[in-house]
Amino acid sequence: MTGTGPAIPRLDTSRPHPARVYDWFLGGKDNYPVDEELGRRITAMQGDAPRHARANRRFMERATRAVVQGTGIRQFLDIGSGIPTEPNLHQVAQSVVPDARVVYVDNDPIVLAHAGALLRGTPEGVTEYVQADAREPERILERAASVLDFDRPVALSLIALLHFIADEDGAHELVDTLVGALAPGSCLVLSAMTADFDPENVNRGIAAYTASGVTLVARSHADMGVFFNGLELMEPGIVSLSHWRPEPGEDGETEEPVSLYGAVGFKR
Ligand SMILES: C[S@@+](CC[C@H](N)C(=O)[O-])C[C@H]1O[C@@H](n2cnc3c(N)ncnc32)[C@H](O)[C@@H]1O
Repeated sequence: MTGTGPAIPRLDTSRPHPARVYDWFLGGKDNYPVDEELGRRITAMQGDAPRHARANRRFMERATRAVVQGTGIRQFLDIGSGIPTEPNLHQVAQSVVPDARVVYVDNDPIVLAHAGALLRGTPEGVTEYVQADAREPERILERAASVLDFDRPVALSLIALLHFIADEDGAHELVDTLVGALAPGSCLVLSAMTADFDPENVNRGIAAYTASGVTLVARSHADMGVFFNGLELMEPGIVSLSHWRPEPGEDGETEEPVSLYGAVGFKR
């Protein structure tokens, strides 16, 4: 790989990694003792952390379906895709529109190692995996352009990604660059952590991640709104993602807000 951007990390099992801790929360097997240890510490402080992770997956499914069913969008750029967990985004999209084209992006080598599961889609559709850092949006756009037609609408999914990227590390610049490259009719699907509902526990969780060398930031409702500047929010706007068009019978669905905001905004 060439370039002067952020280095792609090597697989390091001596320190916890966000993708693998999240996999542990979801009951997956693609994590190491060091990830489980941090997952257990977070769960001891914030007992419903696994429910939050499940609620985030459900948000991805509902938001993807809402976008495919409610618009003509058939192209997806999913950055911070994570270790494959069924149903994956392409399976949700292609179950509605079999010819959906999906590009996944992540910077964690363990996601690359399991990317094969992200590439098994419908014969009519296309799925591709790009290993890249979200802080290099131009490079991502260049690579994704081999699969996605950026003259047509694209759904840009940044789901549970931006809380790993601080403002001073370029969170807003990357969103502005990516959204700026999208055609009218495209949308931004976003979920990110907040301390608005449960500040004490969320801040303790942040301290545990930070002590393990992982950047984690919580954003307020107003902070989240900045990512959607100039976009038209889909109902119900920016809400705890357990309140974003909940569907009866989903696990993790309660009146209790989870500590992540979710929203979908359209570029007109
Ligand atoms: C919590 S997981 C979310 C996975 C999936 N989007 C979901 O919501 O179920 C966050 C993912 O973002 C990835 N990630 C974190 N920082 C990143 C960066 N700078 N560039 C690319 N991916 C990143 C991690 O490797 C991890 O797979």
